[in-house]
Amino acid sequence: MTTGRSNTFYIHTFGCQMNQADSAIITALLQQAGYTLAESEERAGIILLNTCAVRENAVDRIENYLQHLQGLKKRDKALLVGITGCIPQYQREEMFFNSYAIDFLAGPDTYRTLPLLIEQARTGAKPVSLDFNDSETYEGVDPVRQGVISAFVPVMRGCNNMCAYCVVPFTRGRERSQPFSAVMGEVKQLVASGYREITLIGQNVNSYHDPEQGMHFAALLDSVSREAPEARIRFTTSHPKDISEALVRTIADRQNICHHIHLPVQSGSTTMLGRMNRGHTIEDYKEKIALIRSIIPGVALSTDIIAGFCGEQEEDHQASLELLSSVRFDSAYMFFYSTRPGTLAARTLVDDVPEAVKKRRLQEIIDLQNSISSELFHESIGSVVEVLAESESKRSSLQLMGRTSGNRAVVFDREGYQPGDLVRVLITGTTSATMTGRPERGQEGNPSLY
Ligand code: 5AD
Ligand code: SF4
Repeated sequence: MTTGRSNTFYIHTFGCQMNQADSAIITALLQQAGYTLAESEERAGIILLNTCAVRENAVDRIENYLQHLQGLKKRDKALLVGITGCIPQYQREEMFFNSYAIDFLAGPDTYRTLPLLIEQARTGAKPVSLDFNDSETYEGVDPVRQGVISAFVPVMRGCNNMCAYCVVPFTRGRERSQPFSAVMGEVKQLVASGYREITLIGQNVNSYHDPEQGMHFAALLDSVSREAPEARIRFTTSHPKDISEALVRTIADRQNICHHIHLPVQSGSTTMLGRMNRGHTIEDYKEKIALIRSIIPGVALSTDIIAGFCGEQEEDHQASLELLSSVRFDSAYMFFYSTRPGTLAARTLVDDVPEAVKKRRLQEIIDLQNSISSELFHESIGSVVEVLAESESKRSSLQLMGRTSGNRAVVFDREGYQPGDLVRVLITGTTSATMTGRPERGQEGNPSLY
């Protein structure tokens, strides 16, 4: 092992919450091997980009960043750059041809090899560690997290669904779940460290299946909420096929489980869902929504939706708009389709919707969803909501930013509260993406959960 700056590392994290959780695992593994986390990229001798391959523009962002790193490496010959996560798993050694800046590659299942890869990279070799390992869950690694209020806990990894547009099965491999006992051990530690919010994560979190005793996600969620009664419990991302009545009842019954379900639909047209290989119709989806709403009144729902997938006709697009109007999601992540080499769609379907049409349809989706979100926000003016304060607001230290149980961002007057406090806030206004308000003191009664 070398010393000084060459002994320090910095990680840039792109992509989903799983990647954020993975960066916490990588940090732990490198610290165990004697490396130190640097405060900034400038102070690091090793820079890691933990990357996302889900859409073409995510890959473009990394390519731009690599040009900047190439400049840094020209000035500092000893600097090492490693690419981890979904892009190297997907593009493999080909990445080296695209950028001189890269020294080593590791995929989502091989982070335990990183200390070795770094040693090899120092000798000028260009080591690669991209094997899939369907049993790797990083059990036993104690993640080094950035924040002290909210923690992600990966409970399952990988995906078996094979949605036609999606790279995840090719970047993260087959589904595997963390043993129930390991999840509970991690939750106990988080409680002892005073975390106020625990989010159980997985590419398909509600298909969790305990490898030891066979417990399903509803039982895991119930146990986690009992183990951490003072913390808010969240989970993401759910697949409609794995929304069971038992799961919905657990969310309704346990006071500290947030009343929010992120349930990607991807399209409002059954024809498109079939072509996307989603494994459900739009009627199935609406039935799940009705079940959820009948058991958890006022639940916040959010979704993911793709415009312009292969073969999408104007009537399919209209069906997506109708779905948004009828469900009235709290919020949505909205994308236009970009073909990902190697996926089922790239191999068997034609990416035939012209880019201008994709973008026009996406804009219509965004405009409609924004107006729905803003109507819902307006309806909550005058109500009192419970907000977990997360940080000072970006604009002023006299205000805090936090989230409601339904995951809405709220900026409110500080009035002596600190990040980590659970505050009853009277909503007095809204902006496009946030609600604004002030603490409501001394009032009895249950706050609304929105
Ligand atoms: N093109 C556009 N959006 C995609 N997503 C996944 N793959 C693609 C793709 N090829 C979206 C889906 C998914 C979210 C994480 O990203 O909506 O739920
Ligand atoms: Fe991106 Fe998907 Fe990988 Fe997460 S799992 S980093 S969303 S490609």
